[in-house]
Amino acid sequence: MSTPDAKQHWEERYSERNRIWSGRANVRLVEMVSNLEPGTALDLGSGEGGDAMWLAERGWRVVAVDIAETALRRAATDAVARGVGDRIDFQQHDLSESFPDGEFDLVNAQFLHSTFPLDRTAIFRSAARAVRAGGLLLIVDHGTPPPWLSELHGHHQTFTPPEEVVAALNLPESEWEPAKISTPMRDVTTPDGEPAQWSDNVILLRRR
Ligand SMILES: C[S@@+](CC[C@H](N)C(=O)[O-])C[C@H]1O[C@@H](n2cnc3c(N)ncnc32)[C@H](O)[C@@H]1O
Repeated sequence: MSTPDAKQHWEERYSERNRIWSGRANVRLVEMVSNLEPGTALDLGSGEGGDAMWLAERGWRVVAVDIAETALRRAATDAVARGVGDRIDFQQHDLSESFPDGEFDLVNAQFLHSTFPLDRTAIFRSAARAVRAGGLLLIVDHGTPPPWLSELHGHHQTFTPPEEVVAALNLPESEWEPAKISTPMRDVTTPDGEPAQWSDNVILLRRR
């Protein structure tokens, strides 16, 4: 499926401001990966590169993929400034159409949501195929829309329970074991500066 509108949407989203995300790694990645020996990692929907740079700073070699060239350029500049430019290979892909080559010790997909139709199951199946034996697939989704939005205003986003996300992948039990499936809450700040809580859906699968 060709999704030029999705690319345009994300390019415009990133062009609205100099920076959208914090530049810090996502908290669930830090929780799950801090104690691992560094290896090779693939970051899907890498945005401005917070996760990829955090991994690279810990010795991982990273392929970071996003649909938005603006985000990739920004992340590549920051990676050089943080001294890890040579450890991250930034690649532009619309994951609905193409997927990076290679096998990885860790495949990370944090909040790979889009307001455009996105066949996440197909992308996560490709992600699973890219995990080498003994490696991990980490998927972190929002459990709900942002707590400060009462409705989604026609967005194509769905917030599927983690068990259903895993079941849809149809991965053979002989090859995969769930290392963690959980729905923790996270402290966030609303756009008005108010404290709030937002749920994450965390899926960590290990390839045997
Ligand atoms: C909600 S952001 C999350 C960014 C980053 N993972 C983070 O946690 O900060 C979703 C990201 O997915 C990217 N994205 C959306 N659709 C995509 C697609 N079809 N192929 C590749 N990347 C896509 C967007 O450009 C955006 O950077």
